[in-house]
Order: sequence, then C-alpha cells, then structure tokens
Amino acid sequence: LRAGRSTIHEPGLDEILQSTIADGTLSFTTETAEAVAEADATFIAVGTPSLETGAYDFQYVEAAAHEIGRALRRPKRHIVVLKSTVTPDIYTRVQTILAGETEGSGAQVEVVSNPEFLAEGTAIRDFSQPHRIIVGAVSAAARQFMEGLYRPFTKREPGVLQLTDPKSAIVTKLAANSFLACRVGLINELARYCDAVSADIEHVRAGLASDPRIGHLFLYPGPGYGGSCFGKDLRALRESAREHGADLSLVPAIEESNLRHKLYMPRRIERQLEPLAGRTLAVWGIAFKARTDDIRESPAVDAIEYLLERGARIRAHDPEAGRRAAQHFGSRITLCGNKYDAVDGAAALVIMTEWDTYKSPDYHELHERLSGRIIFDARNILDVLEVRQAGLTYVGMGRGCAT
Ligand SMILES: NC(=O)c1ccc[n+]([C@@H]2O[C@H](COP(=O)([O-])OP(=O)(O)OC[C@H]3O[C@@H](n4cnc5c(N)ncnc54)[C@H](O)[C@@H]3O)[C@@H](O)[C@H]2O)c1
Repeated sequence: LRAGRSTIHEPGLDEILQSTIADGTLSFTTETAEAVAEADATFIAVGTPSLETGAYDFQYVEAAAHEIGRALRRPKRHIVVLKSTVTPDIYTRVQTILAGETEGSGAQVEVVSNPEFLAEGTAIRDFSQPHRIIVGAVSAAARQFMEGLYRPFTKREPGVLQLTDPKSAIVTKLAANSFLACRVGLINELARYCDAVSADIEHVRAGLASDPRIGHLFLYPGPGYGGSCFGKDLRALRESAREHGADLSLVPAIEESNLRHKLYMPRRIERQLEPLAGRTLAVWGIAFKARTDDIRESPAVDAIEYLLERGARIRAHDPEAGRRAAQHFGSRITLCGNKYDAVDGAAALVIMTEWDTYKSPDYHELHERLSGRIIFDARNILDVLEVRQAGLTYVGMGRGCAT
C-alpha cells in the first residue's frame, strides 16, 4: 500500500493511492496507536464475516475497538466511526468496549454509524458522487464534524447527507441490501418461470422496467447474487431479527431462493450434457461480477464446484480474478490466460460473469475451437441471433423462446 499498489482490483484505485500518498494526505501504518493518537476520528472498516449461525462474526470489530480505545487513554475528544456493516447491537457493544478501555483517562469518545454503500467495481464513483451519505450520530458536535468531513462531496447537493440516529443508520444499510437482493432474487425466479413456460425474460424485463415504480436498475437475471455482502448481510439480518423476536419470513426466503438459483444453471448444463464425467467445459468469468477480482460467494465458484463434483474438467478464464481463483481451486481447474484457449476442445462454453470482453466474442473462432457448439449464457450478455447464425446453440437465463 505504501508503494501505491492496491491489494484488490478496483478501477482507478491505484492512481488515487499514488496521488494522495505523494501529496502527503494519505499514509499507512500497522501501528494502531500511531494512526489513532493524533487523529480527530477513526473509521472502523474491518470485515464482518458470517458465523456458522449466519450472525456476524464481530471479533474483528471488537478487536479494533479495543485497540482504538487503548490508543485514546488521555483527555481528548475523539469520534469512532463504524463503517463496517453491522447489526444495531454492535453499536452498543463498541461503545461499551471504548468506555471500558478509556475509563478514568478523561477521553471523550463518541461512536457514530456511517454505513458504506459503495459497490465493488464502481467504488470510486460511488464514493465521490454519492446518492446518499447516512450518518447516525447522537451529539451535535459529532454531527457537525461528520458534515464538515463530507463537505467536499456534498457541497453541490447538501441533501445527500442524511442525519439520523445510529441504529437507524445501521438498519438503513441492511434494508438497502435486502431490498436489492430481493429484486435480484425475484427477477431470477421469474427467469426460471420464463424457461418453464417458454417466455423470454428479456422482453418481460423491458416491460417491467418501463413502469416508473419498478425501474430498470438491479433487474437483470443472472446466475444468482454473490459477493461478500448480500449473503452475509441477509443472514445477519435474519439472525438479528430472530434474536430480537421480530418475525421475518421474506428475508430468509430471499437467501434460500438465491442458494437454489445458484445451482439452476449448472443443473441445466448437467441435464443437457450428462454424463459430465470426463467432459471438458469452458467457463468464462469467475468473479462474482465484472470489474472486480472478488470471488467471495461467487455463483461461478458454486457452479464450478458442482460441475467438478460430477467429474467435469474445467478450463476457466477471468480477466482479473485468476489469482484468487488459483488460490481457491489450486490444480483442480485449468486457468487460461486467453479466453479462447479456455474453449479449446470443450463440450460447452459457460459464461458466468458479465465482463465486457465476453460480450461480443469472435464467433468464428468460437465455432472453430468449441467442440460442443453450445453456449450457456448465465448473464444473457450475448445476442441470441448472432450465436445461432454462427451455428452454435444458445441457452440463456430465462430465454425459453428467445427471439
Ligand atoms: N466490499 C464491499 O463492497 C463493501 C461494501 C459496503 C460495505 N462493506 C462492509 O465493509 C466491511 C469490510 O468489507 P471488506 O469487503 O473490505 O472486507 P475485507 O475482509 O476484504 O477487508 C477487511 C480488512 O480489515 C483488516 N483488519 C481486520 N482487523 C483489523 C484491525 N484490527 N486493524 C486493522 N485492520 C484490520 C483485514 O486485514 C482486511 O484487510 C464489511 O463489514 C463489509 O460488509 C463492504
């Protein structure tokens, strides 16, 4: 990081790292005390993975709160901003930890909730041109501080920053992710229905999207949602609701529906090509979505695991996620640096991630190299007619009677 190189693939991030390091605005240390002692505020943005129960594992947030508290043992005002996605109880827990660590020192520490809404792949735009910044703070001083901090991003549209209480801010984040996951889950179920009754989900989507109450965003059928957020946030919301006696049935259903949907495409491939044992399949895309190298909970990973279990051989390509895929799969799959090499001699091509480079392939080359002449397009990114004109069979997601 000190050399200005990001450890993740995020478009534009290296450039920002390099310029802010060069102008002295940004520096890195592994010593918490060094980072915190002279600061006015500390952001906690550590991971909140799932426990086996589905609840968040708060050990990293708690450890960070202890470290920060130990660094603040002197009479000084300080704000601790919870950026990690959490459930409301952790707000109180972090307050208690900080109070315990700074007891008797004269430190005045306030915890503020400021959930993060950026999406991987568009993180920089999402952060610098935000639709909303949610700040949950109690004291006027903390609210004023947060408003000042974000002013460069809110100058033109002051309404972007919304002030609320800490727990409502926390729930807003969980609400946003469950809402979005619900849209994805519903369009995916409708895609399966379209397959069953020979309708075309792409036409249905266009009709749906032109209703202003529905709109077009987050309405694309695909292989199921993945990534490090939707799944774990929905599971944590479910568990938190259960602990507090709130009876939710839709939230757990979204997650169950998505888990089922993730196996929909691999099962179709199996039905079409069985037996899979000994067959070679090409997979384009391993990241959970385009413009990131993140493969956490990626539907492509689940699909590949399913196909491997049935004895298929996988030749895969991803423009950015190759290193992470190699760590996950080891020698169980063959990773190819060139997308057409992955297709060589394969019984089928399976497209799992909507990378631009897959959207208009050289069909002549595919026809030459893809032995099985069939494409499973889990993202509906190819033009059905073009695929057919190239002499290849097309299987999309919910495109039962695609025209
Ligand atoms: N990834 C996203 O797109 C996204 C979007 C919105 C919100 N969030 C939330 O942000 C949080 C972080 O997500 P992520 O995807 O970046 O997770 P991550 O696991 O990729 O990164 C967390 C980082 O925190 C570091 N860390 C852990 N304990 C630490 C400590 N005590 N001191 C210093 N560093 C420590 C880890 O080394 C790791 O680099 C989660 O709560 C997540 O839900 C993530």
